[in-house]
Amino acid sequence: MKKVDVVLGLQWGDEGKGKVVDVLTPDYKVIARFQGGPNAGHSLVFDGDGFVLHTVPSGIFRPSSVNIIGNGVVIDPVILQDEIEAIEAKGVDITDKLLISKKAHLILPTHRMLDAASEAAKGKGKIGSTLKGIGPTYMDKTGRNGLRVGDILSDSFIQRYEALKYKHFGLLSHYKFPFDITDYEIQWFQAVEKMKRFKFIDGEYTVNRYLDEDIPVLAEGAQGSMLDIEFGTYPFVTSSNTMASGVCTGLGVAPNRVGKVMGIFKAYCTRVGSGPFPTELFDATGERLRNIGREYGATTGRPRRCGWLDLVALKYAVMINGVTELIMMKADVMNNFDTIRIATAYEIDGKITSDFPFECPDDVKPVYTDFPGWQKNITKVRRYEDFPTEFKNYVAFIEKETGCTIRIISVGPDRKEIVIR
Ligand code: GDP
Ligand code: IMO
Ligand code: MG
Repeated sequence: MKKVDVVLGLQWGDEGKGKVVDVLTPDYKVIARFQGGPNAGHSLVFDGDGFVLHTVPSGIFRPSSVNIIGNGVVIDPVILQDEIEAIEAKGVDITDKLLISKKAHLILPTHRMLDAASEAAKGKGKIGSTLKGIGPTYMDKTGRNGLRVGDILSDSFIQRYEALKYKHFGLLSHYKFPFDITDYEIQWFQAVEKMKRFKFIDGEYTVNRYLDEDIPVLAEGAQGSMLDIEFGTYPFVTSSNTMASGVCTGLGVAPNRVGKVMGIFKAYCTRVGSGPFPTELFDATGERLRNIGREYGATTGRPRRCGWLDLVALKYAVMINGVTELIMMKADVMNNFDTIRIATAYEIDGKITSDFPFECPDDVKPVYTDFPGWQKNITKVRRYEDFPTEFKNYVAFIEKETGCTIRIISVGPDRKEIVIR
């Protein structure tokens, strides 16, 4: 009996999950997203071309793959439709390659308005949401008001949509936030119609039956563990369980059917949006990471905040996810750095701690260990033995600290730029 293997982000998102899932898909017949929605932006680079996916799993470009949007995902039909058209423009017919869980919730036009109104009302305390309606949609899910993909086929769909919309209008009136959904609502209903060509599935049966038949399934996380609703830097988080446990609820598989947990991290750290980031750099080195690493949001285009690798946060993420192996991305960005730093602890109020705190104060001071840079271009390396010694020392230190093997090392954005040990 097969188990679901998982790829998920261990930092604040954008670790490179899209690339890794695309690389691993030939080993898996089925790729399934289990949480998040169009707040995600997963970049794939192959054949000299780039592509960003938001809702569709990153296995979609591989021949004969099956791609599932699981029940834990929230879907904006308009964004999904745009994405499908862009994929099909590349000559991929995805009608039979994409399956959508009936239990996935729909993001309504008014959810987006509520997201925008709520963020605007927060002023300086804003979360820095991608404004895709994620928070309000998950609120309606847990509040038991939501509309699901399976409801699209019900005779009462329009009435239920209208009832929820007017409920949202009531909420919006408290914000005094100007909005107009007329155009988006037209597009939304057109996109809902177009969704009907895809198979709406009871995803929990589909996934478990694949596993029973020994068909390998890979779960693709969105966001990262430090953005998790429970364990992230609350309230500066997203509204779903981004962790390994989210695979169980987001796909309908039992914990004993989860296999490998592959945790991805960048060789440094980034964050987009507000909230604590202890190793953030506000200097020229931070700028350098952003410029060389092209650290601009794949969904919103916002510049990402950059800083050194944070082992306090990384070890925390390894623990809460039960990571079985690590995947390190983007070390090539630091090819020409003299010194590379890793935070191993924090100093808070004069005390040293290696536990991630309940609240990160603004003046948290990371305790760093310095490493000499490798000062060589590693982008063309394809075998672990060929990495410079300084680089291998850096890898060995992270492995010792986390207690996990780094099994895959990505050395560039392209599919081919990868070293698998
Ligand atoms: P995701 O949200 O986790 O899928 O990550 P994003 O796609 O938002 O951001 C990762 C960015 O880094 C994308 O622009 C990728 O093309 C790029 N990338 C991925 N792996 C590497 C790598 O090893 N080196 C470099 N230089 N870029 C990479
Ligand atoms: P991928 O899957 C990076 C961040 C937002 C904001 C917070 C809440 O590409 O790694 P939301 O839109 O969920 O209400 O935003 O979470 N955020 C991400 N940051 N990568 C993502 O996804 C993100 N999805 C949400 O910037 O700080
Ligand atoms: Mg991203």
